[in-house]
Amino acid sequence: MIKKAILITGANKGIGFEMARQLGKLGHIIIIAARNETRLKKAVQELEENQIEVKGLLMDVADEKSVWNAAETFAQLNLNLDVLINNAAILDKEDRSILQENEEMLLKTITTNSYGALRVVKAFLPFMKSPSRIINISSEGGSMTDPVGGWAPAYCVSKSLLNAITRHLAAELFTRHISVNAVCPGWVRTDMGGAGATLPVEKGAETPVWMATEAPQDLTGHFFRNKKQIPW
Ligand SMILES: NC(=O)c1ccc[n+]([C@@H]2O[C@H](COP(=O)([O-])OP(=O)(O)OC[C@H]3O[C@@H](n4cnc5c(N)ncnc54)[C@H](OP(=O)(O)O)[C@@H]3O)[C@@H](O)[C@H]2O)c1
Repeated sequence: MIKKAILITGANKGIGFEMARQLGKLGHIIIIAARNETRLKKAVQELEENQIEVKGLLMDVADEKSVWNAAETFAQLNLNLDVLINNAAILDKEDRSILQENEEMLLKTITTNSYGALRVVKAFLPFMKSPSRIINISSEGGSMTDPVGGWAPAYCVSKSLLNAITRHLAAELFTRHISVNAVCPGWVRTDMGGAGATLPVEKGAETPVWMATEAPQDLTGHFFRNKKQIPW
């Protein structure tokens, strides 16, 4: 096994934390990023107790300065980044109508879920050599081919935008042998997915973990679920 350095955003809980646990157990170096220092420390401690080689990085993906500060801190680790997983996202409780008058929630959702991921790519690209991988954790809610049903429209739009960003990044980074793909984890029992979701967190992390490790490096510019390509 080649030991990789893997950065996961929004990894203090949920699918992000589970990806960190699974990838760490495989022997990779994990850098978990989170915006809350207390929760970040707790997550680092829990992974260390599981004999995982882990570093914590304070980073709020919705705050440009925080992302660039995190990149400066990362530079001090003297690591090349083999895999970047953009996982951090929000789904607002008030996200019910695309016609909502107040724009704040839509803008906050896009700033975090879509532009946040792009920002992290821009800040961490200098550490990514050839070949390496970027994985954007998306959702079938952002699909342009599935029916749209009025569910969490701001969140769905943010994931459609993340998918579009994924395709453009894949095209631009192709010659540098940096693959860029989007992954839907399925409907997973986390704070975001809720208790009624169909999948346990272990299963939700499965396809991103495969994408970070076993998936062919030349797969790029695609959308995956259950380790299979799905339509955008
Ligand atoms: N669960 C599902 O059914 C499902 C389905 C499809 C796609 N997804 C996607 O899977 C990914 C993980 O979701 P999850 O279910 O694990 O959600 P979750 O349990 O709510 O975890 C989301 C993580 O993102 C972090 N985060 C939010 N905003 C952030 C910011 N501005 N900067 C840094 N971190 C931030 C949260 O940190 P705090 O603790 O600080 O809030 C938390 O660690 C997301 O991209 C989500 O859209 C989930």
